[in-house]
Amino acid sequence: MKGLVTSFVTFLLTFYRRIEWLHLFSYVVIVAAEILVLREIRGTPEASLIRYTVFIGVVAGSLLLIRQLIIQPIQEMKRASLHIAAGHYHERLPEYRSIELNELAQAFNQMADTIAATEQRRVELIGDVAHELRTPLSNIRATMEGLVDEVLEPDEATFLSVQHEVSRLQRLVTQLEELSIAESGQIPLRKREVDLRQLVGEVGNRLKPQYDDKGVTLAYRFAPDLPKIDIDPDRITQVLVNLLGNALQYTPQGGEVAVQVTHEGPALTTRVIDQGAGIPPEELTRIFERFYRVDKSRARSSGGNGIGLTIARHLVGAHGGDIWAESKGIGKGATFVFTLPL
Ligand SMILES: Nc1ncnc2c1ncn2[C@@H]1O[C@H](COP(=O)(O)OP(=O)(O)OP(=O)(O)O)[C@@H](O)[C@H]1O
Ligand SMILES: [Mg+2]
Repeated sequence: MKGLVTSFVTFLLTFYRRIEWLHLFSYVVIVAAEILVLREIRGTPEASLIRYTVFIGVVAGSLLLIRQLIIQPIQEMKRASLHIAAGHYHERLPEYRSIELNELAQAFNQMADTIAATEQRRVELIGDVAHELRTPLSNIRATMEGLVDEVLEPDEATFLSVQHEVSRLQRLVTQLEELSIAESGQIPLRKREVDLRQLVGEVGNRLKPQYDDKGVTLAYRFAPDLPKIDIDPDRITQVLVNLLGNALQYTPQGGEVAVQVTHEGPALTTRVIDQGAGIPPEELTRIFERFYRVDKSRARSSGGNGIGLTIARHLVGAHGGDIWAESKGIGKGATFVFTLPL
């Protein structure tokens, strides 16, 4: 019995919070009052008085409710929208009693969250880019001042150092362009049926001279009968070049890097396994954030911008796959895994 009463009350409350029902409810009350109360005293002066009082009471009550339930929230929403438009991205709407307006307010708050997050990313990006530009620009300026003041010799080494910094800036600009396309979420994919084994081999051949120079071996382990896969070969090449480039960079001379491709469930899984510097467990996810490097000074000297993995994450994501890093810790090597759904 108690349960029944509770459900009835809940039903009534839901009913009351629905705007379209509220309207109907007012008319039902008027008609019910007419039928129940006026049936007995139809035609008498009291009947007209009661009829008008009930009518005015219901209309006034409805207007009051409509004001509380609809007009006030709408005015609040208008004020909040104007506030957000003026750049106050932290404005949010409260909960409303009306179900429809509450849903609208929740959608509004979600939109405001997205705008605030986008704005936050924009501000951070400008800060990050300024920070990345500062070092090479300072180095070039210092060298130029040294040349003007005749503290530095105008020899090959000086010019090569300037050239090195300029190349770094150029590479940064190219990577920023790629990052901007990747982060816009609108990476154009030119997909076709690809033999991943062949693609990995081609990328490996391209990087072979760099591996030979450093004395690092590149090994392949392919599962038999790998099916062809519908991917954009240029984008996946970009991912592989970055992962194999990183593996080479962090593997000492005489070490080995292996690329393994297997068919696991509904996806092809590629692993780039190295026995190099390794990554501390708490950094395994952070390295995919833009401009993040584990050892800033080490990456500086080797010219890494900390963007490669961020782009790789977006490219794999655009194919519907996942990418992550595994490592047992510093000095214990690292494995980068990415999946591509078949
Ligand atoms: N195989 C690896 N072994 C150890 N650390 C790695 C490995 N791959 C990446 N890292 C760490 O992750 C960081 C981010 O890698 P990411 O490829 O994004 O940037 P990067 O190589 O420094 O610069 P770039 O933007 O030029 O690729 C690196 O700076 C490095 O600290
Ligand atoms: Mg890299």
